[in-house]
Amino acid sequence: MFYSKLADSMLINRTHVPIYPLIANQIIRKFNITEGTAIDVGAGPASLSIAMARITHLDIYAMDISREMLEIAQKSIEKNSLKKRITLITGDVNQMPFQDEFAELIFSRGSMFFWKDLPTSFKEIYRVLKPGGAGYIGGGFGSAALRRKVKEEFKRKDGKSYQNPPKIQVDALEIAVLEAGIADYLLINDESGLWVLFEKTG
Ligand SMILES: C[S@@+](CC[C@H](N)C(=O)[O-])C[C@H]1O[C@@H](n2cnc3c(N)ncnc32)[C@H](O)[C@@H]1O
Repeated sequence: MFYSKLADSMLINRTHVPIYPLIANQIIRKFNITEGTAIDVGAGPASLSIAMARITHLDIYAMDISREMLEIAQKSIEKNSLKKRITLITGDVNQMPFQDEFAELIFSRGSMFFWKDLPTSFKEIYRVLKPGGAGYIGGGFGSAALRRKVKEEFKRKDGKSYQNPPKIQVDALEIAVLEAGIADYLLINDESGLWVLFEKTG
């Protein structure tokens, strides 16, 4: 079935279910990286970037392959008065427009399901991370309760069911992470979603 990334990302925002503040807190609780540079990969409307900017001092690059998404993100960033904290950049995760060891933190929600070449994507993310930096990559709603609320709100507001993104098999994801040369990682596959968390050693 056709899955509209744009429409569903926008609708998640319109439900006002606070999944982005929850996930932002989960990222900070896990890695406690609150200063320096961060990248939001496949940022879409930049909702997670905005939630992260609100609870940290990070300078955030919201990267997306789609210019259309970045135009929507720009409006949202301006509305939240976060222009100085969040920089928009067009880019493909398979060839990220950043130098080696650029960022302390790289996070991504809901985008990896669309990446064409997962091992290359994770290799790129690892290349761009600073030693000691961390990655928090995956997708989901942060908790079972918020997932249920989003789905209910989708139905109520739009009269249609939430379309799950394309599936990634957990073992295929783990193989991609290993092929990328990431040794220190944690896979989460539970009510919060499917996530890979890792730190760059060295
Ligand atoms: C479902 S949306 C999620 C948006 C946002 N992260 C969120 O959670 O609301 C997926 C996003 O990933 C972006 N995307 C897909 N493939 C990408 C790639 N290869 N590189 C960068 N962004 C990509 C899409 O343009 C889209 O904005």
